[in-house]
Amino acid sequence: MAARHFLTLNDMTTTELESLVDHASALRNEWRQGKVRDSLKNRVLAMIFEKSSTRTRVSFEAGMAQLGGSAMFLSPRDTQLGRGEPIEDSAIVISSMVDAVMIRTFAHETVERFAAASRVPVINALTDDFHPCQLLADMQTYREHRGSIRGATVAWIGDGNNMCHSYINAAAQFDFNLNIACPEGYEPAEALLKDHGDRVKVVRDPAEAARNAQLLVTDVWASMGQEDEQKAREKAFSGYQINPELLALADKDALFMHCLPAHRGEEISADMMEHPASVVWDEAENRLHAQKALLEFLILNRLD
Ligand code: CP
Ligand code: NVA
Repeated sequence: MAARHFLTLNDMTTTELESLVDHASALRNEWRQGKVRDSLKNRVLAMIFEKSSTRTRVSFEAGMAQLGGSAMFLSPRDTQLGRGEPIEDSAIVISSMVDAVMIRTFAHETVERFAAASRVPVINALTDDFHPCQLLADMQTYREHRGSIRGATVAWIGDGNNMCHSYINAAAQFDFNLNIACPEGYEPAEALLKDHGDRVKVVRDPAEAARNAQLLVTDVWASMGQEDEQKAREKAFSGYQINPELLALADKDALFMHCLPAHRGEEISADMMEHPASVVWDEAENRLHAQKALLEFLILNRLD
């Protein structure tokens, strides 16, 4: 049987995604009670990082260890990947020795090529185009705090980047409406917008996007790989900040999320992280639980 991969949210059905999010919450509860679970005993995850990470690396590595397995950190600096060994050759070799591979890289095509040559599941841990693992944690966090997100309105304030793209996929999979407020020239990919025009709206005014929304989300103005654009982006995005004034326009029970790392004073005001509406720390911790559920699903084909 061909391996199941997780390169975007579209690699799973809505039913699978909802079961996975529920299972993630169950794993969190078990873990908090100190229960030992060794579902991935003797299993190995290879983690290829071509970009920096705190949450993704710690959550995957800790998650494998907590399930009785282990994880191996591979950087292009110390592997032949950084010296030009073809992606397909690397995929054949690495996937002949481990049970799953997680990749964080630049071009989305890299994870697609790796997956096509891999005999074990491949997980996209962020590309320039998508960050689906973060959405599992975000959807789990919303559900834990507010119940089903079905029919809700989510406001994305800021860059039409990899996170925004995954929010567009999530809107379709989890059945919510998405208002995106971004400056001209920083819209999400047109093809994605075209596919989801019924539920995704792009506006210029953050207030218009935020009004009556149940969830406000943002991300850095300059993503990894865009460091040279920092100054230009600061100019383009000034005014695209989530702060208590913007939040006051949203639903009274609205939540605030950010995948982190955050830049206080840029995409959020200094007080947002500790605002009563903020669930950013639960969101970060849920990376661990959601990915443990994902690893069990992909490696063992189980969601309970
Ligand atoms: N949110 C997220 O993916 O964080 P890291 O870059 O620290 O992994
Ligand atoms: N959009 C950000 C997300 C970081 C988790 C980036 O790609 O750098």
